[in-house]
Amino acid sequence: MAGGGEKRVAAQHAKGKLTARERVDLFLDKGSFREYDAFVEHQCVDFGMEKNRITGDGVITGQGKVNGRPVFVFSQDFTAYGGSLSKMHAQKICKVMEKAMLVGAPIIGLNDSGGARIQEGVDSLAGYADIFQKNVLASGVIPQISLIMGPCAGGAVYSPALTDFTFMVRDTSYLFVTGPDVVKAVTGETVTQEELGGAKAHTAKSGVAHKAFDNDMEALVELRRFIDFLPLSNQATSPPRRPTQDPMDREDEALNVIVPVDSTKAYDIKDVITRLVDEGDFFEIMPDHAKNIVVGFSRLDGQTIAIIANQPAVSSGVLDIASSTKAARFVRFADAFNIPLLTLVDVPGFLPGTAQEHGGIIRHGAKLLYAYAEATVPKLTVITRKAYGGAYDVMSSKHLRGDINFAWPSAEIAVMGAKGAVEIIFRNQDNRSEAEAEYVRKFANPLPAAQRGFLDDVILPSTTRPRLIEELRLLSGKKLKNPAKKHGNIPL
Ligand code: COA
Repeated sequence: MAGGGEKRVAAQHAKGKLTARERVDLFLDKGSFREYDAFVEHQCVDFGMEKNRITGDGVITGQGKVNGRPVFVFSQDFTAYGGSLSKMHAQKICKVMEKAMLVGAPIIGLNDSGGARIQEGVDSLAGYADIFQKNVLASGVIPQISLIMGPCAGGAVYSPALTDFTFMVRDTSYLFVTGPDVVKAVTGETVTQEELGGAKAHTAKSGVAHKAFDNDMEALVELRRFIDFLPLSNQATSPPRRPTQDPMDREDEALNVIVPVDSTKAYDIKDVITRLVDEGDFFEIMPDHAKNIVVGFSRLDGQTIAIIANQPAVSSGVLDIASSTKAARFVRFADAFNIPLLTLVDVPGFLPGTAQEHGGIIRHGAKLLYAYAEATVPKLTVITRKAYGGAYDVMSSKHLRGDINFAWPSAEIAVMGAKGAVEIIFRNQDNRSEAEAEYVRKFANPLPAAQRGFLDDVILPSTTRPRLIEELRLLSGKKLKNPAKKHGNIPL
């Protein structure tokens, strides 16, 4: 129960970190934790390890409840051999992963480990591979979440990378394939642990982690909030529901004036989201990465929904490599777990330029297109303003089996913006401003799309919430299947 002993526990606390057991207790409903394999010990007899046994072998595993719903958990104990992964440590983790899949409940890993148990050599590497294999088999079956609460280096990084969501704690956690010393030796680059693989590096730059929290306590409390949004497994045919005091017929007049009349002016799409959803509650995923698209979980009518929204306040909401991959993975998670998609569209198109083209925007943009086209969950779309070019098609358009596609009167649906269009089709004309005005008259409104049935209705923004809830209720029985196949071949 005391892990690696008082001294090491004190060292853990001195770093501002909780112990593995304190974390589990904080994370789960009081008194709900049932520990498995507490008596397991390592079997290593090399390097004097036979005289150095810490019961539990550096990881605490078991099951418990989060707000009354079951979850499986493993929590690595840095005070026991630095939380390093031995054969038995891996076996304990695999056991709870298997059990989680068997009964259909999320698996949550609290990672704090010095990596492979050096004394055990290839046994510990085999242990990692066993976990990776289980991660892959569990993908799309049960939600898998990693919370990085200390070091996570080398082979250890790939289990979190395979899980659905990776969260980090600021200043005390880091993820990297090789640490600063190896970086220095191989590339000559000098870099600190924090710069290389801290929370900022991964939540803002690399997009490896989905969110960061200030300390262990905040991270665990937020993790509980997050789990409330998720179904227990892919067997849940409808998303979780939670009673709400927010009336389904609540209209919001402020939405009628939220989009600026001047279509070059920005507004914050998060203001739209929080006005639409139950009690304004929005759990944003990847808030610091590719901010030109906003994704996260909310509820409508008490039911979890996944929101994907272009963000006009950042780079005009343009789609680029980072925002396409961010949104694509999110859409696929929601689809795998039967969570309806609500897409809010205000997109001027894909970002032009050599950096994007040579970086593979065609391949990466295709991921988002693929994800939407493949999704069979209820798909609701509201075009608030621009829906230009290929990006119009991509953003959950009617053409990709959108179930309900609304537009606000401020919607502009066209191949491109007026200026660019006039440059091309009226390049030899003198009176370009007149041509531009005509283009705006024709396309800077939702009617051409509505006349073709590509929109189901043009709605008053204030009525959006009740209209969406009505449709969501109707769609609760939606059944749609893709053709039988081994698996598709999403452009990676
Ligand atoms: N295997 C076995 N024991 C390990 C270990 C590993 N991979 N990583 C850490 N430990 C042990 C240490 O020997 C130490 O044991 P002790 O308490 O009996 O002295 C304890 O865990 C704590 O480690 P320490 O180095 O004192 O902690 P720290 O906070 O100063 O540093 C690390 C943490 C992770 C940076 C450092 O331990 C480290 O570099 N570990 C090796 C990382 C690695 O290369 N792993 C293999 C990659 S797959």
